[in-house]
Amino acid sequence: MKIHGEPTRSIWPLPDGSGVGTIDQARLPHRLATLELRDAAAVEQAIRSMQVRGAPLIGVAGAYGLAMALRAHADDAGLASAHQRLAETRPTAVNLRWALDRVRRRVAPLAPGERAAAAWDEAGRIADEDVAINHALGAHGARLLAERQRGLGRPERPLNVLTHCNAGWIATVDYGTALSAVYQAHDAGVPLHVWVDETRPRNQGLLTAWELAAHGVPYTLIADNAGGHLMQRGQVDMVIVGADRVTRHGDVCNKIGTYLKALAAHDNGVPFYAAVPSPTIDWQVRDALAEIPIEDRGGDELRRVGGLDAQGQPAQVAIAPPDTPAANPAFDVTPARLVTGIITERGIAAPSALAALFTQPAAAE
Ligand code: MRU
Repeated sequence: MKIHGEPTRSIWPLPDGSGVGTIDQARLPHRLATLELRDAAAVEQAIRSMQVRGAPLIGVAGAYGLAMALRAHADDAGLASAHQRLAETRPTAVNLRWALDRVRRRVAPLAPGERAAAAWDEAGRIADEDVAINHALGAHGARLLAERQRGLGRPERPLNVLTHCNAGWIATVDYGTALSAVYQAHDAGVPLHVWVDETRPRNQGLLTAWELAAHGVPYTLIADNAGGHLMQRGQVDMVIVGADRVTRHGDVCNKIGTYLKALAAHDNGVPFYAAVPSPTIDWQVRDALAEIPIEDRGGDELRRVGGLDAQGQPAQVAIAPPDTPAANPAFDVTPARLVTGIITERGIAAPSALAALFTQPAAAE
């Protein structure tokens, strides 16, 4: 995507090859600042603190982090411990483990002296593939949005799309997942308007709003609890979200609050779609509720709110006494029965047909 007219990815190798550059997402939407990560510990810290966030992006960052760790300790023990430390930074999105496993598989047969460079190249391939996958799934999603907009029967009436969290280009290497569809539909001239859930407690909706504003897509920020009300009034034509882990049966684990949106969509006959790159599908998990580890990010994210103070400086304020008991599960599971379709780089499938989409040869464009 473009920042100030310049094509930009969310993560890039530094020119001297010492590490990677990335956007500091903790400072958005107020400030566009970058970070330089030059060792695995810095990558771990950036993922934990969510300066680097979004399922596909943390996978790519983790892969680069593993490559950097191998520069210091490339024997089998070094490989295993760096893999484990990086994988533990955030447990729910399967992309991180998927990317780390892929790098490990690539380098394990090599001599230790060859591992760091091979891991670095593999991380670069994962990043490039992420861009291609998200572009492809966005094209399928954009056709769906165009079809639904035509179905409204009034060419000028914008399609009202509701999204939750941030499934945009900064959550991936480029294009995004749910927002890749939105961007491509908008660029093709489909009239669209996006309802953007605030997405407490981390407020990733503000990142979505920042992205949509930069791309010129009409949007409105809403409180998380507003979606059901808007659906009852016919003001939402479809819901489209990203995902952190999807099972072969089409259960969708995504940012906390997604399930409630799916329930409201089901009750109001609003189609609910998840945009899912294949590395987000966990083919092993059978029972999403029992098996997917749900990250608990601690109560301070609920008790405190960050923003800018009157002088425009970053500040945090307490909105609850520090001893207020708080629970902060970061993700939830939307059962497949509430999901209309899953948008992938291979096309769009009903949840029950997801596995078939990946066992059949890819359809020609
Ligand atoms: O906790 P986050 O901000 O990393 O969670 C991100 C989400 O839940 C996104 O919706 C998901 O990763 C899809 S991103 C393309």
